[in-house]
Amino acid sequence: MRVLVTGGAGYIGSVVVEELLRDGHTVVVYDSLYKGHRGAVAPEAAFVWGDLLDGAALRGALRAHGVEAVVHMAADSLVGESVQDPAKYYRNNVVAGLALLEAMRECGVARLVFSSTAAVYGEPAKQPIEETDPTAPTNPYGDTKLAFERALDWYEGAYGLRYASLRYFNAAGATALNGEVHDPETHLIPLVLQAAAGRLPAVTVFGDDYPTRDGTCVRDYIHVVDLARAHVLAVGILDTRSAIYNLGCGGAGYTVREVIETARAVTGREIPVRRGPRRAGDPAVLIASSARIRAELGWQPARQDLRTIVADTWAWMQAHPDGYAE
Ligand code: UFG
Repeated sequence: MRVLVTGGAGYIGSVVVEELLRDGHTVVVYDSLYKGHRGAVAPEAAFVWGDLLDGAALRGALRAHGVEAVVHMAADSLVGESVQDPAKYYRNNVVAGLALLEAMRECGVARLVFSSTAAVYGEPAKQPIEETDPTAPTNPYGDTKLAFERALDWYEGAYGLRYASLRYFNAAGATALNGEVHDPETHLIPLVLQAAAGRLPAVTVFGDDYPTRDGTCVRDYIHVVDLARAHVLAVGILDTRSAIYNLGCGGAGYTVREVIETARAVTGREIPVRRGPRRAGDPAVLIASSARIRAELGWQPARQDLRTIVADTWAWMQAHPDGYAE
């Protein structure tokens, strides 16, 4: 299929592009490079520099490349920032998303895979979290992702759009070609490894008085390649139906302390740790039930072991100490 990937120059987007290409799809990346990296775009993919709010450019790309499906990954995704600056999140995640849906409608493209988030659940009522559990976001980031999901449902009813909304838990890891480069970096695994590399003086543990096995927060880390494989599977259902899927590995997850211990073992380096206060808005535990996507799409994580996730991230950081050249 001919697939346009918005945000295909970003961390997860670049790996989704790798996996789509591996499966024989033709890929065009549409990215403003506001956060993505030109060097993260696979050379086999076409690249269009553009903003989602530029309707003419977007329609031009959809038509010129004969696009049959869109994977929509371009978004802002920092919980804390979204609380400080909700306008940015409503503009970039909702207004820009609706502009994409309008362009798709005008060009007759009716298949969409959407990057959603565990943040739609807010403070979860139970673990593991199922897709049928209540959605009650506690920050603008989760709220904007949920608003777009709801629009997808109405667009399906009115215009026949078919969509797969993938609610990511904690993406991590890297491929040989692509890894995580954010500025500022806020995610735990890259920060822990920056401390291991001596690029950060220490990693701060945000709270150690949670009701968990060692007092630190538990998260469901999913390797970015396993995450990307789910997108390829999701593209395959869009001729017949729409769906919402959680994407995590399930099980017991890992605490912040377990992540740090694993990073010490993988790198063989000292990792200085500081205790800090809780970070506002952090739920104690976020674990996905991925039973639905396993049953319906046969998805199976192949790299769920935390050592693999951390080792792949470390290998990428060692090979690309300065990130991307462009
Ligand atoms: N953490 C630390 N120290 C740090 C960074 C993180 O202790 O320096 C802790 C956090 O408090 C959290 C865990 O490590 O308990 C993981 O934090 P991340 O920032 O790596 O990831 P989050 O779980 O906060 O965020 C992820 C996604 C978001 C999504 C959210 C859903 O990155 O996009 O899950 O709650 F919204």
